[in-house]
Amino acid sequence: MTDTPTILLNGTPTALTGAPPTTTLLDWLRGPAGLIGTKEGCAEGDCGACTVAIERLVDGKLTVQSANACMLLLGQVDGLGIRTVEGLTDARGHLHPVQAAYVEEGGTQCGFCTPGFVMASYAHLASGGSTKVEAIHDALAGNLCRCTGYRSIVASVERAAGAPALPADALPTLARTADTSFEGFHAPRSLASALALRAAHPTAALLAGGTDLGLLSSRSRTPPAEVIHLAHVPELHGIATTPAGLRLGAAVTYSEALPTLEALHPALHAYLTRIGSTQIRNLGTMAGNIGTASPIGDSHPVLLALDASLELTSAARGPRLVPIADYFLGYRKTALAPDEIITAILIPPAPEGAVLAAEKISKRRDQDISSVAAAFLIARERTADGDKITHARLAYGGVAATPVRARHAETALAGAPLTDATIAAAISELPKDIAPLSDWRASAAYRMLLAGNLLKRLHLRLTPPTAPLEVDAL
Ligand SMILES: Cc1cc2nc3c(=O)[nH]c(=O)nc-3n(C[C@H](O)[C@H](O)[C@H](O)COP(=O)(O)OP(=O)(O)OC[C@H]3O[C@@H](n4cnc5c(N)ncnc54)[C@H](O)[C@@H]3O)c2cc1C
Ligand code: FES
Ligand code: FES
Repeated sequence: MTDTPTILLNGTPTALTGAPPTTTLLDWLRGPAGLIGTKEGCAEGDCGACTVAIERLVDGKLTVQSANACMLLLGQVDGLGIRTVEGLTDARGHLHPVQAAYVEEGGTQCGFCTPGFVMASYAHLASGGSTKVEAIHDALAGNLCRCTGYRSIVASVERAAGAPALPADALPTLARTADTSFEGFHAPRSLASALALRAAHPTAALLAGGTDLGLLSSRSRTPPAEVIHLAHVPELHGIATTPAGLRLGAAVTYSEALPTLEALHPALHAYLTRIGSTQIRNLGTMAGNIGTASPIGDSHPVLLALDASLELTSAARGPRLVPIADYFLGYRKTALAPDEIITAILIPPAPEGAVLAAEKISKRRDQDISSVAAAFLIARERTADGDKITHARLAYGGVAATPVRARHAETALAGAPLTDATIAAAISELPKDIAPLSDWRASAAYRMLLAGNLLKRLHLRLTPPTAPLEVDAL
């Protein structure tokens, strides 16, 4: 059925009229809605000036998350609560405790970034976020301020500790159970519907979190003509841990997956907290990361090292399992057939005693794309002659047209003791495995050096040095 996306805007049910469903929420707020408190800085998810709070019911409980309005499409927010900075103040104009704290702590100067910071802070506190300094930095890493300085901003959040979530009582009235279609923006409510739509519209853009696809509407201003939105498909939302490993549904966001991963794979958890910002992780999915088939997608090396498989499903043939190593066929070319959807990511248990190390090297810690990303899974056994490497999977991103396994380097490690000489032998094999390019992020020589030095760092982690350390430099 064709309909109009409807949201709970600052507590009031509101139809998103006056713009196509692939318009960004930011353009709609600042245009037809006339709510200009939400600012546009970069229009590509980097600055946080456009941050709004998303409200939804999870198991009947209100959850509040920050998101970038410049990356969200109108069709995507149908059924959600959206709170903007205008919706924090009460009917009599009293400031919300978060706003008051920013005033009292001097957490603002020119004010351009302030609505975004206030909304990111509100979402963090309203969802029960910690007021430890590291947690505040993490919650605000997707927001940039060029004049106040972050000390007083952090103090504002500390002062607002305990600030409550505002009610979103009418949310249940917006819930939909049947498939929706808004002028070519299809939102199926079952896997069967999603697969039937995929078969009927093989060129439609699949939309999960939109943190990559949304750029077509925001930065490029060339919105997709047809979209299949996967976020409402219940079958794509499961997180299951079984003896066969972890199964992550394709619509599970990073923020949803992180608590499970923290217990199962602490190194993977720590690594994924380096993806984008809280706003990006609240919407983005690992399946979407794989869907981009970018050679610098951060999930790819770690999934290669963990020997993950993808479940690809079509209406005609059902599901099939493809090892991720066989998925990336060439630059932005994958094994996904036009009628298929990635439905799940399967991560088998690591071999007994194996250690996973995952590294992302970028110019900034947060909100930055990797120059090189690497993930290594190493298992060793103790023999009479010392430790022997029994299992080595080395994977890199950012060093070739696709994410790659460094198979020659792996061969140099397999069966050998973990010594400086073994690591040096593996590093000398890397040019057979990887062929980095030079671009504005890093030169080819620097990337090659990083790839080797990350192996040295792995060695140091596993066997701390007794003598001073030598690391190659350009
Ligand atoms: C500010 C910013 C920071 C970022 N930081 C990082 C970073 O640090 N590391 C990193 O790797 N990436 C980063 N990204 C890119 C992006 O956030 C990730 O690639 C994210 O995982 C994409 O997930 P998504 O659900 O938002 O995908 P979407 O944008 O919804 O989709 C991305 C692609 O995958 C396809 N797709 C989505 N779901 C499926 C499916 N189930 N089956 C088949 N195809 C599918 C889509 O059609 C599209 O081509 C960043 C992006 C922004 C804007
Ligand atoms: S405008 Fe910069 S993140 Fe949206
Ligand atoms: S107060 Fe001016 S950019 Fe932050």
